[in-house]
Amino acid sequence: MLDVQKIRKDFPILNREVNGKPLVYFDNAATSQTPQVVIDAIVDYYSNYNANIHRGVHTLSQEATDAYEIARKKIQKHFNARHAHEIILTSGTTHSINIVATGFTTLLSEGDEIIVSALEHHSNIVPWQMLCERTGAVLKVIPMNEEGALQMDVYYQLLSEKTKLVFTNHISNALGTINPIEDIIKKAHDVGAAVLIDGAQSCPHIKPDVQSLDVDFYVASAHKLCGPTGVGLLYGKEEWLNKLPPYQGGGEMIDQVTFEKTTYAGLPHKFEAGTPNICGGIAFGVALDYMNSIGFEAIAAYENELLVYGTKKLLEIEGLKIYGTSKNKTSVISFNLEDIHPYDVGSIVDKLGVAVRTGHHCAQPIMDFYKIPGTIRASFSFYNTKEEIDVLVASIKKAKMMLS
Ligand code: ALA
Repeated sequence: MLDVQKIRKDFPILNREVNGKPLVYFDNAATSQTPQVVIDAIVDYYSNYNANIHRGVHTLSQEATDAYEIARKKIQKHFNARHAHEIILTSGTTHSINIVATGFTTLLSEGDEIIVSALEHHSNIVPWQMLCERTGAVLKVIPMNEEGALQMDVYYQLLSEKTKLVFTNHISNALGTINPIEDIIKKAHDVGAAVLIDGAQSCPHIKPDVQSLDVDFYVASAHKLCGPTGVGLLYGKEEWLNKLPPYQGGGEMIDQVTFEKTTYAGLPHKFEAGTPNICGGIAFGVALDYMNSIGFEAIAAYENELLVYGTKKLLEIEGLKIYGTSKNKTSVISFNLEDIHPYDVGSIVDKLGVAVRTGHHCAQPIMDFYKIPGTIRASFSFYNTKEEIDVLVASIKKAKMMLS
């Protein structure tokens, strides 16, 4: 059981008003809010030990390096990676996917096949299309059904000895569907393919164990996990990270540089060219500590209560349709009001203090499947309440009245 009123006190932003109304923040799938302890870590870094890392012998640089590497170990522990050097700190999920997609250019040949799911965010579609353009590999898609779940029987048929890579998100950002990643990974491995799981939307709700999943690559962003923007991770099995070439050249990723030849640093530095988001990395570690102190089991149970309550209350509104009705889903509700554009609804509820995302949610193929321009998406976090859902429902009713 979590004490939501106590938790809400940790988030200063939840006290603010928007358009003269108390903020109801239901855009958590876009980015989560930041607890005071993470804000304090950021202020502490810039107030007391701001310095570049891995480069200086002076005290500030040592302190910053130590804090950054402690954060990497916290991330390793959280995701249960075998080694800390299997955790590459990146600018976020998109950056992490691009490191892998670009790296595979040297490992694929014409006619090889790669499989993505129909439920992907653009960040897990476009880099693979670009990879196919570079290599002549062929992109195959696991289709979805009306409920917003993957058609696994078609996935099994798509797999063959030509399949080299499979990519899917753990949870759809647009619909909240939880994909059966254990099965996806196992079946891909049966044909010798590598698997990348996009955990951007799952990490706020579920604590993944990359070793027991036996996944080859796992990517996520800190800002969905109560951390800052501009930092995320690429987990890769050591043998895969050793096989991939560096993504960017620059400082820190080298062993020796001459004008004749450069040799590269080992893991993780090979993929960490340039000055990283030092403060962001440190704050990411603090955010994980914070979320673990609440506990992911308690978070998932509470958020499921919000999902059940929100679904029931929203469905009481006549003409409201929910997209994404899979049995396995997290606290994301995507919906539309009959004959009303989602953007118009989003603008009205904002006037009432309610923050939801409207549009295609960077997942246009899902909207094309349903033949809609977009949805209104309310995504709940462990610091939201049922009373806030009541405010959302009242604001949607008001928008409907004004727009009908
Ligand atoms: N991927 C984020 C979302 O779903 C930005 O809103």
